[in-house]
Order: sequence, then structure tokens, then C-alpha cells
Amino acid sequence: RSIIAIVPAAGIGSRMGADKPKQYLMLGQQSILAHTLDTLFAHPEIEQVIVALHPQDHYFSQLPQSQHPKLIQVVGGGERADSVLAALDYVYSHHPDAWALVHDAARPCVTLTDISRLIESVDIYPQGAILAAPVRDTMKRSDASGHIVNTVDRTLLWHALTPQFFPASILRRHLSAALAAQAPITDEASAMEWAGVMPGLVSGRVDNIKVTHPDDLQLAVLFMSQQ
Ligand code: CTP
Ligand code: MG
Repeated sequence: RSIIAIVPAAGIGSRMGADKPKQYLMLGQQSILAHTLDTLFAHPEIEQVIVALHPQDHYFSQLPQSQHPKLIQVVGGGERADSVLAALDYVYSHHPDAWALVHDAARPCVTLTDISRLIESVDIYPQGAILAAPVRDTMKRSDASGHIVNTVDRTLLWHALTPQFFPASILRRHLSAALAAQAPITDEASAMEWAGVMPGLVSGRVDNIKVTHPDDLQLAVLFMSQQ
């Protein structure tokens, strides 16, 4: 099986509110995106890493990782799904039989062990799977006025993480069809679900956070130091 990583990194980080896109903020010695790429480059089963960049990106070429022999750059799109689809178009034309391992640039704390567990899970989930974390808190459903309607059974609820791992050509087909139908697509699994596929859930580390708000930077430094 040929495995290609796809890293959507074309966002602008509006919730972070920094002076540059959050994937270029420093986390200790190097940027968030540099950490993410180093982990993917270090995985022995990942053959190539395709990074989707903003059309006006002028930070990426300054990273040493931009010269890595496994790295390919593509231009991303207006939404995360458009960026992933741009990378899938590249995969489809160069490695049509590959599996795509899609991982957010903004999740620098992912571990090689969790990536391996996801890849190995295709023995159980031949249609693909995602890393996810079981919900820990008691879950409430509210009405529009902020009153509790009921308590939702937590045992069947998960936080969707990345990487998400699917056959590239099938993911490309379902993602483009779901986008064309204006379906609400927030991750790769939601495009597969939309097409009637039931991806597997592989329990992953809860410290594989998506750096989204300023507070998350300190958490990410802490989590990376604990690995
Ligand atoms: N992303 C992308 N292309 C887009 C939007 C997002 O490649 N058009 C990427 C981001 O760079 C990030 C990942 O998708 O690595 C997850 O998105 P998110 O955390 O929402 O990042 P941003 O969109 O940059 O942040 P915000 O929503 O706060 O603006
Ligand atoms: Mg966003």
C-alpha cells in the first residue's frame, strides 16, 4: 500500500488573531507547520507529503522543510475541503492507487504511534478510518434560549481528530461530489459519510489538539514536551 500524507495549511488563522497564519507561529524551536511536517517525514510508511498553501503564502519557502525530498506543494482553496481536494487532484494524477492520510497543519502534537495505529486499522476498517477521542464530559442538548432539553448519551460520542485515512481516489470522488452538493463537510469522514460509507474510529491521544485559539499555543508546547 502506497501512503501519501496531505497537509491542509492554507488557512489564515482568524480565530488565533496573530500577525501571521497560525501554522507559522513558533512552538519552541520551530513553527507549528515545521513540527507537523517533521513528524510526517519521520514516518517510514509515508512516501510523500503534499502541503496545500494559501495562494499568497510567503512564509513556507523560508522553512527548511520546504526543501525536503518527500515534499510537494499545491495551491489550496477557500475552505479546508477545497485545499484537501487540490492535494487529492495531485495524488490522483500521480499515485491513483495510493491511500491519503489527511492531517491538519495545525495539529503539531500528533505522535508517530497514533499515525501507525491509524494506518494499521485498515485491516479492520478497509473503507478507511479516523483518529478520534471519546467524549469525556456529560453532554447536554439545549434549546435556542440556552436551557437544557436533555442529556445526550456520551458513550456513542467522539471528538473527530486527524489524521483521517482513506483510499485517495474514493475520497476525492466523494469529497468533490459532497462539495458540489453543498453538503456540510467539515472533515474527510463527513464526505465519506455523506456518500454512505461508515468510516472506522480509532481511539487517539487527546493531546493531539488543533491549535485554534491563543491559549492552545501554551498547551501545545506542554504536550510536545511530554512526548
Ligand atoms: N485550511 C486550509 N485551507 C483553508 C482553510 C483551512 O488548508 N481554506 C487548513 C488550516 O491551515 C488548518 C486546517 O485546515 O491547518 C484546520 O483549519 P482551521 O483550524 O480552521 O484553521 P484556519 O482556517 O486557518 O483558522 P480559522 O478558522 O480560525 O481562520
Ligand atoms: Mg478555519
